[in-house]
Amino acid sequence: MSATPEDPRAEQPESGFLGRPLPRRRFLALTTAGAASLSLARIPAGFGAESPAPDPQGAGGCKVSLVVNGHTHELWIDGRSPLLDVLRDGLMLTGAKKGCDHGQCGACTVLLEGRRVNSCLVLAQSCAGDRITTIEGLGTPEALHPMQAAFLRHDGFQCGYCTPGQICSAVGCVLEGHAREPEQVGEFMSGNLCRCGAYPNIRAAVLEAAEATASLPKP
Ligand code: FES
Ligand code: FES
Repeated sequence: MSATPEDPRAEQPESGFLGRPLPRRRFLALTTAGAASLSLARIPAGFGAESPAPDPQGAGGCKVSLVVNGHTHELWIDGRSPLLDVLRDGLMLTGAKKGCDHGQCGACTVLLEGRRVNSCLVLAQSCAGDRITTIEGLGTPEALHPMQAAFLRHDGFQCGYCTPGQICSAVGCVLEGHAREPEQVGEFMSGNLCRCGAYPNIRAAVLEAAEATASLPKP
C-alpha cells in the first residue's frame, strides 16, 4: 500500500538552512563534517594522540604532596594525571583498578577525606594535602578491616576485579549513613559494577559490617 499525503509515513520534504530545499546527500555531508569539527574542537591542546606526554619536571609537570594511607609522598607528576594513574603507576598501589576509566564502573573507588570518589575522574594535583585511603590502607592481611572480613565471609566476589573498589565504596556508603537496609545498600552501591554478579553477597557483607565500620575512626 502506498502512503497518502496525510499518512504520517509520507516522506517529508527535505529542507535545508533558511528553509531552502537541501538534497539528502548534501545534508548528510554537512552534518557529518560539522560533528567531526565539533569533536575535534573539544580535544584540549596537548591531548592529541600525537602529542608526547610532557616531562613531569618540564612544562606541564607539577610537584604534589599526596597523603596516601597515612604516608606523605612528594611527587613530580604530569599535571593532567588522574589520581588513579598516580596511585597505580607512581606509587605502585595497584589495589584500585582501572575498569572503564570514565567514571562508569567504580573499580577505581578510593576514599578522599573519608568520602568515596572515582579516582579515574579526580585530578591528582587537586588532592594535594588531602587524606587518601586505598584498599591497601584499610586493613592488613593480619588485621582485616571489618568490611574486608565480611566480604570474605559472605563470598562477596568471584574474580575479585571489582572488589577493592566495592570495599572502599562500601566503607564510604556506611559513613554516609546509607547502609541500613538491603534496598538502600543496593541503591547507594549501584555505582560499583560487578561483572560476576556477586551483588546479593556484597549486600549481605555491607549490611553485616556496617556497625563495626561505623565504630572505627574515619579513614
Ligand atoms: S575506572 Fe573509574 S569508574 Fe571505572
Ligand atoms: S567479582 Fe568479578 S567483577 Fe566483581
